[in-house]
Amino acid sequence: MMEELKERIQSYKTEIDAFEPGETNASELFRIKYLGTKGIVKGLMGEMKNVPAENKKGLGQLLNDFKIFAENKYDQLKGSSINNAEVTAHTSIDFTLPGDALPLGSRHPISIVKNKIISIFQRLGFAVAEGPEIEDDWHNFTALNMPQHHPARDMHDTFYVSHPDSGGAEWMLRTHTSSVQVREMEKGKLPIRIICPGRVYRNETISARAHCFFHQVEGLYIAENVSFADLKQTLYFFVQEMFDEAVKIRFRPSYFPFTEPSAEMDINCQICGGTGCNVCKYTGWVEILGCGMAHPNLLENCGIDSNKYSGFAFGMGIERITMLKYQIKDLRLFSENDLRFLKQFTSAM
Ligand code: PHE
Repeated sequence: MMEELKERIQSYKTEIDAFEPGETNASELFRIKYLGTKGIVKGLMGEMKNVPAENKKGLGQLLNDFKIFAENKYDQLKGSSINNAEVTAHTSIDFTLPGDALPLGSRHPISIVKNKIISIFQRLGFAVAEGPEIEDDWHNFTALNMPQHHPARDMHDTFYVSHPDSGGAEWMLRTHTSSVQVREMEKGKLPIRIICPGRVYRNETISARAHCFFHQVEGLYIAENVSFADLKQTLYFFVQEMFDEAVKIRFRPSYFPFTEPSAEMDINCQICGGTGCNVCKYTGWVEILGCGMAHPNLLENCGIDSNKYSGFAFGMGIERITMLKYQIKDLRLFSENDLRFLKQFTSAM
């Protein structure tokens, strides 16, 4: 009996040794055949009860060795690469394949142009300053030499905001980022060389040329002996970098309450090159910004000695620069979130 069992175990061992993981699911088939509840190892264990008592110990040892032998083979089968491929086929996921790329978004054209404007002025030593979009009357108007009832206020079509804690004072959505310039000047640290990018609001009827919110970058440079020549050269450098080296500029006298003298700057039309088109209204020139020398009242309102310091300021609409750069005809496209429009812009432009 013992001898016969020993022989059977030996032949199972030879069989196991020769077991090739060729077919799909080989390790599972092996487990069921040898190690399962109705498998060969269990079966042999069951035969122990028929063995005479004096042989039980020896046979127990033998069966235990056999069980370990089968388990090792099973582990080996489970870890084999063919078997991994089986698992893959089984679940139909190949973890070694490259993943599906997620569609990448692109930057909004306004952000692309804003970043470009910032980087041009940063090269000239301008730092970025930011301020709140909900402003008080002082920072948006009064400090900027626009006291109550000043006619220039009407041009801004302001959105007013009621605030229960304001004690009757008026709050508003800022109509320009000049309010940030006031906040910077009030800090009392001179010289000042900043640009203020941000969103501004005006109560205008939405059309291809106007919107109730848009974006500005305003600039301010306050130091000793700042002249209009500095302003011109700074803005000339800006448009050359923004458009191209050959761009032409011209200044027209204008009026802003917080600058004196004031001007508007035009560039030659980038669309028709100056020959006349509907963008430049057949003049060959397009206005891109307002500017001027900081008004002494503005400096004094912000606690700066206007006999010692002078400065210049300028302000431009980012939408307008973007429309000229990319030949976009309708302002509303910027806020409609139409992916067909937005996908056309890459940061490298
Ligand atoms: N704040 C002005 C506007 O929004 C622009 C401007 C800024 C003009 C600085 C002159 C100097 O219209």
